[in-house]
Amino acid sequence: MIILGIDTSCDDTSMALLEGKNKVLSNVVSSQADLHSLFGGIVPEIASRRHVELIDNIYRDAIAKAGVSPHEIDAISVTNGPGLIGSILVGLCFAKGLAVSLKKSLIGINHVEAHVMSIFLEYDVGFPFLGLVVSGGHTTIMLVHEPCVYEVIGSTRDDAAGEAFDKVAKFLGIGYPGGQIIERMSRTGKRDFVMFPRPMAEEDNLDFSFSGLKTAFINWTRKNKLTEDNLIDVLASFQEAVFDTLWRKILKATKRFNIKRVVVGGGVAANSRLREMFRERCGNEGLLVYFPSPTNCTDNAAMVAATGYFYFERGRLSPLDIKGISRMRIKV
Ligand SMILES: Nc1ncnc2c1ncn2[C@@H]1O[C@H](COP(=O)(O)OP(=O)(O)OP(=O)(O)O)[C@@H](O)[C@H]1O
Ligand SMILES: [Mg+2]
Repeated sequence: MIILGIDTSCDDTSMALLEGKNKVLSNVVSSQADLHSLFGGIVPEIASRRHVELIDNIYRDAIAKAGVSPHEIDAISVTNGPGLIGSILVGLCFAKGLAVSLKKSLIGINHVEAHVMSIFLEYDVGFPFLGLVVSGGHTTIMLVHEPCVYEVIGSTRDDAAGEAFDKVAKFLGIGYPGGQIIERMSRTGKRDFVMFPRPMAEEDNLDFSFSGLKTAFINWTRKNKLTEDNLIDVLASFQEAVFDTLWRKILKATKRFNIKRVVVGGGVAANSRLREMFRERCGNEGLLVYFPSPTNCTDNAAMVAATGYFYFERGRLSPLDIKGISRMRIKV
């Protein structure tokens, strides 16, 4: 079985060919980060125009690298939400056109679900498990009962964790995407230099709020002097506060639902300090934690194809008039 995955939900144009459940034949990702870094964040209209310019070549490239003929493709799995609607529509329309011309099945995929299911490209995780997606637009905890059956049990009420990194980086003028830059700068910083708040950590729910933490960072810089000497310590403390907050909620969720396995996905999951913290703390609590390789954490189409595999296997195909949806709930 060969599945073509397509993802244009945000600022990366990506296509991948997947054979079976996890043999990646190609996974082409064209990042627009350089383009958007000029503005300190993603400009939706620029992103969708760029997808239009790139998509034909990305398709040809993915097919050529995989060494398959388009007629060998069994199904086309495409992100139809959530994300920037102008960007989503470029990939979705391309997928529909291809499905009609090649007479192949179409499968619409939830991008957030794909961030969790990306783990199956590398590990056969047992069910049920908790999926934590920490990305530019989402901080979501899902209880994954079995493939294609999920419940959202917690999510951010305002900014996502990645968004908080991006906004702090923009405030400091240190570049975009912020998470990667802050990770690099804070590697040798003192994580307990500033005790930033852990928003909502003590509340009896599984939700997050990172907007206040970003404000706490900005307020700290207004009350105290940010210098070349203390910058890396303040950033390390901020990063630690984000990850400690994530950890506290995940621990609460594992206890509440009596779950022993945790899968972490999304761009922020590429962060080596997050990986280290979760591995150490999960080990201490007798939990198993799984991370995709860093390149599979950020947006890519192999994760969309991998998710499509489970839907295709269960005969859960999408109609050709499936819509692009910018704000999309996870299916239960
Ligand atoms: N090493 C890292 N450490 C922390 N954050 C990171 C790292 N690498 C990337 N990020 C953050 O990950 C986010 C991008 O992740 P991803 O590509 O999954 O998000 P997105 O697709 O834009 O959002 P979503 O998946 O919610 O639609 C950005 O906010 C970026 O700052
Ligand atoms: Mg993403």
